[in-house]
Amino acid sequence: MPVINRFAELAPEITEWRRDIHRHPEIQFETHRTSALVAGKLRTFGCDEVVTGLGRTGVVGVIHGRKTGSGRVIGLRADMDALPIQEETNLPYASATPGAMHACGHDGHTAMLLGAARYLAETRNFDGTAVVIFQPAEEGGGGGREMVEDGLMERFGIEEVYGLHNDPTRPLGEFAIRSGPFLASSDKFRIEITGRGGHAAFPQTCIDPTLVASQIVIGLQSIVSRNTDPLEAAVVSVTSFRTEGNAYNVIPERVRMKGTIRTLRAEIRDLCEARLKTLVENTAAAFGATAAVDYSREYPVTSNHAAPAEFAAGIAEEIAGATGVVRGAPPIMGAEDFSFMLNARPGAFIFMGNGVGPALHHPGYNFNDEAIPVGCSYWVRLVERALPLS
Ligand code: NI
Repeated sequence: MPVINRFAELAPEITEWRRDIHRHPEIQFETHRTSALVAGKLRTFGCDEVVTGLGRTGVVGVIHGRKTGSGRVIGLRADMDALPIQEETNLPYASATPGAMHACGHDGHTAMLLGAARYLAETRNFDGTAVVIFQPAEEGGGGGREMVEDGLMERFGIEEVYGLHNDPTRPLGEFAIRSGPFLASSDKFRIEITGRGGHAAFPQTCIDPTLVASQIVIGLQSIVSRNTDPLEAAVVSVTSFRTEGNAYNVIPERVRMKGTIRTLRAEIRDLCEARLKTLVENTAAAFGATAAVDYSREYPVTSNHAAPAEFAAGIAEEIAGATGVVRGAPPIMGAEDFSFMLNARPGAFIFMGNGVGPALHHPGYNFNDEAIPVGCSYWVRLVERALPLS
């Protein structure tokens, strides 16, 4: 069975919601307008319960099926936040907020889950409860973690949880999923190297932190190439390198660096963190400089549970056909804070093709409205199949 017919009728309206959200992007936990819009619509649809303020600006809608005897509860999650990017699409509904943009398609995710909520509240062809979860601050803020810490799973009795993200590297409507690690853990580090500044013409009187930091950048490349099993995945990237100096004839006192580490397994994550600290501290010491490392674990690995991943792949196949679902899709080194929800409950995360176009987080990116009926159908069928009416 392909896309649900009702969504062909609803698509123009859901597209309007998507474009309205697109025009008014909000970053991190500041999704006040979007959260109010979501909560208002959920109430209009006749959700049995609408809760706001979970995970600061998160919103949850509860929809009971025609029957609830099964006692089962399924969670569906969308993200609502935008990115600090200046939009360059020239769309008529482009961002009205300078420096903010829906460049990851969370506007589409929110609109599609709203569309599904409307249909589920209208039809209620299931036995149990569907909980629609709208989270803020997916882009690095840990909104998913905050909702879990606020008792999301316990409060609504959620037994399984599912997430979806659009993918502009795949054809429209194609789904991709795998069991096990799917997206990477994401950690960040800051390194400060303190040497001894002075006149650049007399380097022998100084300890040059720029040279020390440069050795460290090179040395860090050995974590992936020499310490990590070649069959494992890891990324170590230094993304910022700033000397305190600003003159051609002064050796500065300090250099500060920042970067990220991505892995697909806890053991590799531990290894990378330990090697980074050892390399930084001992390299600095070898040159007579001192180093301070601030290492912060951000998102864990997004790891799909086997049975829910298989179930989700089957639902995707109902919508897209057998050839429209890539099972065993390769993992990617991007990260997702849906990982916190998957650490709290069994479930699965799936990618849905957006049609090939500008990359996620690119100023020319736009969510493809033609994907709306596909995503809405996936959510609805997932609930109806997981909670069948007997
Ligand atoms: Ni995203």
